[in-house]
Amino acid sequence: MKKVFVTRQLPDSVMAKLYDQFEVDMWPYEKKPVTREVLLEKAREVDGLITMLTEKIDDEVFEQAKNLKIIANLAVGYDNIDLEAAKKHNVTITNTPDVLTDTTADLTFALLLATARRIPESMTYIKNDQWKTWSPLLLAGSDVHHKTIGIVGMGNIGEVVAKRATGFDMEILYYNRSRKVEAEEALNATYVSFDKLIKQSDFVVCMTPLTNETKGMFNEEIFKQMKSSAIFINSSRGGVVDEEALYKALDSGTIKAAGLDVFDNEPIRHDHPLLELDNVVALPHIGSASVETRLNMMELAIENVEKVLRGKEPVTPVK
Ligand code: DGY
Repeated sequence: MKKVFVTRQLPDSVMAKLYDQFEVDMWPYEKKPVTREVLLEKAREVDGLITMLTEKIDDEVFEQAKNLKIIANLAVGYDNIDLEAAKKHNVTITNTPDVLTDTTADLTFALLLATARRIPESMTYIKNDQWKTWSPLLLAGSDVHHKTIGIVGMGNIGEVVAKRATGFDMEILYYNRSRKVEAEEALNATYVSFDKLIKQSDFVVCMTPLTNETKGMFNEEIFKQMKSSAIFINSSRGGVVDEEALYKALDSGTIKAAGLDVFDNEPIRHDHPLLELDNVVALPHIGSASVETRLNMMELAIENVEKVLRGKEPVTPVK
């Protein structure tokens, strides 16, 4: 019987499908990542792995995994996996696109609204018993409607963020490796250079995956070119941002605020300087975290494993 290891505890209701067909072993914790030692030990034994974005799947893993045919990553992003090494060792990599698109776009837009309208700060204000009277500029934030949103990385999620923005009568700019003519027509989105987007947007929304090209692309120079009223939103990967530069930009008023669902090192330290700023709204990487979507992601990952271990084509291979 083929063997599968799952690096996090997933509900039996979704796992049942795999139990029927394969010998399945699972890391027994939901809130604690698998240790490197156990990951390497299991990789040596199994034909399939279901991994989380918390695992670094590098050459060392592939070197030991002599029987491994598939790694199904429970995320749309796969920057945690060394694709060159996977290719060298002939291991299929799959991700979970599409099923999380709407949910992640919803969270991105929620983060944008929460940051612009200072919602977490307002809640803290009440909880700390600071609300003594209504006043004209009390916790006044920035409007979202009729402003310019600049989306960097117009993939599926970027397009749905743009769709959300149309409901707020926003002007939509986007920058992407290639033009998306259909999206331009459907959403009235305008393709612009990165430089122009950075200078003209009221909301700069980072949706680009983390690659060698995008690593640290939001740096000091880029923040300096943004409007001083600009709000920066990131729900893709923390590594795309130079966090020290972002801190300086926020602390000095170079830009107005930031909404961050992702960080360079996750979990971010609770005493990280970014978290001390009032103009930062920070979330613990919950872009796709609705129960429905997470279950759909699990089902898709399981289907990919099933397919590959039965000699079929996976549903969502990483190309
Ligand atoms: C992904 O799927 O890559 C997300 O970041 C996880 O929520």
